[in-house]
Amino acid sequence: MQYAVSDVNDHDRYKILTAFVLPRPIAWVTTVGPTGTVNAAPFSFFNVFAEDPPIVMFAVNKRPDGRIKDTWTNIKRTAEFVVNLTDEPLARAMHDSSGDFPPDVGEPDYLGLKLAPSVDIKPPRLADAPWAMECKTWQVINVKDDRQLIMGEGLRFHIRDELWDPKAMRVHMEKYHPIGRMFADRYCRTDDRVIFPAAEGPKKAAAAD
Ligand SMILES: Cc1cc2nc3c(=O)[nH]c(=O)nc-3n(C[C@H](O)[C@H](O)[C@H](O)COP(=O)(O)O)c2cc1C
Repeated sequence: MQYAVSDVNDHDRYKILTAFVLPRPIAWVTTVGPTGTVNAAPFSFFNVFAEDPPIVMFAVNKRPDGRIKDTWTNIKRTAEFVVNLTDEPLARAMHDSSGDFPPDVGEPDYLGLKLAPSVDIKPPRLADAPWAMECKTWQVINVKDDRQLIMGEGLRFHIRDELWDPKAMRVHMEKYHPIGRMFADRYCRTDDRVIFPAAEGPKKAAAAD
């Protein structure tokens, strides 16, 4: 089965892309509105792309009726946001925060999510998130006035204490249970893990023959 992109409408392209490129990590982005309302929304067109500087990117589209999402309105104004990650205990609240909330109703407030102050920027982080990164806007790419690809530069990491071994600089994987986005309202757990031996490449494998 194959499709030329030009033969498939936007909606079906979205389905073809998101049905296969999965699971996707989820950025649960907190921002601040003009009157101080703290906004939180999940984005799974998201990933991390560099460490020097730490660069994350996520894509915010318009709502089907053309309204701009609060996350983009707030980032456009302040150039500051926090990327929080989600684990199993927070997954349902993350999902619920994707509802259509008016700009003056903060999702964390409405859903009873605890906030913690950021150090370098104004938007707070979600206090119970396993990991969060304070970000300032690095670059924004406007895709056909319909979608903004927002790239953030990380300024500070926050890690829930019990998840991290600071001496080894390693995560306690057995305690970290991130959730991935499949498609639509489907998610996956990540506890079924697989380890392969280090890849050796053709040179070493040939020498062993
Ligand atoms: C798991 C998940 C992932 C999502 N990913 C995206 C995304 O990548 N881009 C996007 O524009 N909306 C995405 N959404 C929808 C937004 O979260 C939703 O439109 C939200 O209401 C935006 O909130 P805001 O107006 O407070 O910014 C996603 C929703 C869920 C549940």
